[in-house]
Amino acid sequence: MDLDDNHQIVPSHIGQNAAQKRTIRTLFTRIAPSYDRINRILSLGQDQNWRKHALARAQIPSGGKLLDIATGTGDVALLAAERLPAVQIVGADLTLAMLDVAREKARKQVARRIGWVNSDGLALAFPSDTFDAVISVFMLRNVPDMSRAFVEQVRVVRPGGRVVCLEMTWPRRFPLTWFFWLYFFGVAPLLGQLIAKNRAAYIYLPQSVRQFPAPAATAKVMEAAGLREVSWELKMLGTVAIFVGMK
Ligand SMILES: C[S@@+](CC[C@H](N)C(=O)[O-])C[C@H]1O[C@@H](n2cnc3c(N)ncnc32)[C@H](O)[C@@H]1O
Repeated sequence: MDLDDNHQIVPSHIGQNAAQKRTIRTLFTRIAPSYDRINRILSLGQDQNWRKHALARAQIPSGGKLLDIATGTGDVALLAAERLPAVQIVGADLTLAMLDVAREKARKQVARRIGWVNSDGLALAFPSDTFDAVISVFMLRNVPDMSRAFVEQVRVVRPGGRVVCLEMTWPRRFPLTWFFWLYFFGVAPLLGQLIAKNRAAYIYLPQSVRQFPAPAATAKVMEAAGLREVSWELKMLGTVAIFVGMK
């Protein structure tokens, strides 16, 4: 992913890691204040339900540890704090502006401490076998190396622990694929312009979903990273996939 001469965001798998990080940070720093609002509208109010579902699939034991990687504005970590009182929670992200929003929400919503860490999901700042589960929501489309992301998640999960990933997928069946195209390429940039004052970020969004591999291919990457019993389920007419694998 990169910025072209017109400052459009162009997904690409070529380029320096440092440059890619800069692009991602710039993008999410710009949209951080309006990120939650646009998510709720674009998902027709369903995104928190998907996160609850992903959290349930992680099967974190009482007293266990959870890593919400690419936590962004912290929604998964905050839901975990609300629902799993005895679990230790860490939310990690590359973009400080997103973490600032997460911290502020935590200050208002939960009494319990969540650890917020500025960390790259492709080189996690945690020892091996640390967590009972790692969850990522809407992360993988934004990293240049999905395989590397899973290898790192597998490394920091304890043996027997779970890696859960929630991502948007492009529906393959007609006429849904056309409807989705119209909705996503039509509505998302409009909302981006009106609410985030950033049309480019919300043109990047449908482009990145369009380029994301089909669920079966993602599951293969998870297996190659060392996960077993990999499965996935589709939500929202096949536009959202929740993957689960065990170390
Ligand atoms: C679409 S947001 C998802 C936020 C959140 N997980 C949610 O449930 O809405 C993507 C997030 O991934 C973060 N991100 C992208 N690449 C990353 C990386 N390599 N390591 C850690 N975070 C990353 C971005 O900073 C951004 O906050």
